[in-house]
Formats: sequence, C-alpha cells, structure tokens
Amino acid sequence: MQENAYLKCIGMDCGLEYPISATRVECENGHLLDVKYKEKPSESLKEKFLSRRNPEGSIFNESGVWRFRELLNFCQIDTESFDECAKSLVSLDGAEGRQSKPYHMSKVADFVQISQEGLWLQPEGYNPSGSFKDNGMAAAVTHAKLVNAKRIVCASTGNTSASAGMYAANEGIECDVYIPSGQIAPGKLSQAYQFGAQIVEVDGNFDDALAKSLDEAKQSNGYTVNSVNPFRIEGQKTIPYRSLEYLNWDAPDWIVYPGGALGNTSSCGKALMELHEWGWIKKIPRIAVINAEGASTLSDLYNGKFNGEELRWNKGKPNTELIKNYYSDLDEKGIRPKTKATAIQIGRPANLVKALRALDFTNGVVTSVSDSEMLDGMAVVGLNGFDCEMASGAVPAGIKKLIEEGTIKKDDVVVGILTGRQKDAMLPVDYHNNPSNRFARPPKN
Ligand code: F0G
Repeated sequence: MQENAYLKCIGMDCGLEYPISATRVECENGHLLDVKYKEKPSESLKEKFLSRRNPEGSIFNESGVWRFRELLNFCQIDTESFDECAKSLVSLDGAEGRQSKPYHMSKVADFVQISQEGLWLQPEGYNPSGSFKDNGMAAAVTHAKLVNAKRIVCASTGNTSASAGMYAANEGIECDVYIPSGQIAPGKLSQAYQFGAQIVEVDGNFDDALAKSLDEAKQSNGYTVNSVNPFRIEGQKTIPYRSLEYLNWDAPDWIVYPGGALGNTSSCGKALMELHEWGWIKKIPRIAVINAEGASTLSDLYNGKFNGEELRWNKGKPNTELIKNYYSDLDEKGIRPKTKATAIQIGRPANLVKALRALDFTNGVVTSVSDSEMLDGMAVVGLNGFDCEMASGAVPAGIKKLIEEGTIKKDDVVVGILTGRQKDAMLPVDYHNNPSNRFARPPKN
C-alpha cells in the first residue's frame, strides 16, 4: 500500500495505514491520522529554502507554505518543476505565510518581563484571510483538489471558515461552513459571506457545530477541512519552520500557542518530531499551550485538575476514559465553554490526543489565562504596532504567567505565535474606553 507518502493512524497498537488519496479523518477505530513520508529529506534543503526567499517569479517560492514544499510533498510531485507545482499546489498567489516571521516586540517583552532579545512574536494574522489557518488550508485544499472534491466543509469559530471560503472561492469549489450562531466575531462572519460560502447556522457552540459538520460531510461526501484533516496539520508545520529558519535553525527554548481545537499544538509537535528525527535540530523546544480559563479542557486534564489524574500521551495509550468522564461531567453540570475570546471557546478539542503526543515529545506545559489577561495581551501587542485578536492575546498573557511562576526562565528564548488579526472591531474600542484597563488610552473630548 505504501507509496512515498501515506496516511497512518497515530494509535500505537492500531497503526492502520491508508493511501494518500483517502479522505477519512480517522481510522476505523476512531484514531486521528498522520501524513507519513518514507524518505528522509536532505538537510541541504535548508539552503534551498533560504534561497527561495528571493522568489525569482515563482509564487511557490513566495508562499511561506510552499517555500518548504519538500517537507510536505504529499502530492508526490517533482517540487522543482513549476508546472507540476502549478497543477497541484493551491496558493493564493503566494500570499499564505509570506509575511509571517518572528519579530521582537519591546513593549510586550517589558510586559512579560523578559529581555527584548529573548522574545520573538510571529504574527500569523498577516495571512491573506487574516489568520494562521491559511497555512493549513492551502495544504488541505491542495489535497481536496488531488481527490477531486467539489465541496469543502468545515465548522468554525470564524477563522477557519474565512480561510476555507477564501480558498474555495479562488479555486471555484463549493464551501459549506457550520458556525455557532451568534458566537463568532462579526468580521469573521462577514468574510464567509464575502467569499460566497454557504453558511449553516448551528444553534449551539463550536463543539456542536463540528459534530454536525463532520456528520454532514460523511453523509453527503463533503470534504472536511477542519484541523482533524491531517493535511491541515501538514500545512501548519510551516509556522514553526519559518520561526526556526529565521532563528537560523537554532531552536528556541519555548514555542507558545493559544489552545483551541489543538491543531497548532499537534502540527508543531509533528514538525519538531520530524526535524529532530532527521537531525535538523538538536534541541527540542518546549511547547506551551495557553487555554482561556473559561475553555480549559486541556489545562484541566493535563494538570490533573479532574479526578486528580494528569492526562498524558502514555506511549500512545492515553486514558481515554478520563477524557470521556471529563466531558460527561461537563454535560452533567451544564458547563459550556465560555470566554470572550470566541476563537478558542472550545470544550472538546478534536486534536486532544495528538496534542498530548506533542506535549510528551517536547516536555510541554499547559496553563490558562483570564479574559482580562488576554485583553491586556492583545492591547500590548498593539502598542508595538502589530495587530492581533483576543485569542492571540493569550500568548503574551500566558508567557507572562509562566515567567512569573518560574516555568519560563528570564534568559530563555521564547517564540510566541500570534494566531490571528483583530476581526472584532469594537473590542479594542471598548477596551480603551474603560480607564481601569491596564493599557487603556481613553479618548479626550
Ligand atoms: N487562535 C485563533 C485566532 C483561532 O482562530 C484559533 C482557532 C485558535 C487560536 C486555536 O487554534 O485550534 O489550533 O488550537 N480557530 C478555529 C476556527 C477553531 O474555527 O477558526 P487551534
């Protein structure tokens, strides 16, 4: 069955394999899938990736995703041939990942109390649809085209739907988006309309919308582009690739993400596992995941706040009963995820088990922050001239918290991923009109 690229279940005592043309998001036994490659890429590609930053007219070199195409060559094409790339790879004219790289942000460094040289922040909001999703969506829609899918389907707290809608429109395929009614930022909703996606309003939260969209995709042969799609995870590997490349592949001590459905955590873990296996990095950065306090499934389970047991990857055999009991407990108590950072208002993170693997490999940590801490994080990023949304504000807020408690050391090198751009126009206005907020600058009259 195996070609150069294939799909393999992540379950240690399952390990089922499928051809790359499979469109399933889990194996027969319900485990998530990885894209696997048989060949080990040569480290000399580092030079090639660098040279492509002078794109010489190729949008596949301009693209911050496809610049690294040898490391996600699931189409199994000749990556040197422009024509083969153009036939197979989906790109918004090279725009995905093009502007994303890590920057120093002095005001944020002062806020979190680390040296300015020690802190890097990578604004993924400067992608064409305004979030990190474009990294993964370019890859997922590439696979959708490979299998001749005519309609892509997703559930979304807003950014996935914006990204899916944008690529679908550009490629001339249909796109259905399931959104939790009334619970997504207005700017995100308007993008889905603008790109001509078919909106399906779900009376419930994101978890309900995801369940419904997965069901519907199965029934009607829709192609799911949520982060349970293993090709999404492949595209999002390029986020840490860009960070590492800008740091001359000298791995930082930490990579920090907000945690929602945990696709980013999973993809960063996979990227680091592969790079380490190939000998491209010697040091393994630790992943820190920052949940919102009101949507803290991973933080609760990982830190032993439910039934006193710390949920771990456990060599591929995590205690799935504990996860089930946690969800039943939430249901019994009527607890629904609740945070103003609607992007990460998620109670049942679909990539939880993959994220546990990533945390295990990187000796990762998980914590949670309050809404007001996220808003301060969002505001202080703005004071450096960069824009981000509230969920991304979890990153500075989480770094601050982890430094204060001594987990991140003051001389550590930290890369934080600012996942999305502000799409809730009134949020900063409201923040700055309230003088009790830490960075508020109320208007004069
Ligand atoms: N930050 C932003 C801005 C997001 O939109 C999301 C997820 C996350 C962080 C969480 O990332 O799922 O990889 O842990 N948004 C999804 C959506 C759920 O539908 O747009 P994750």
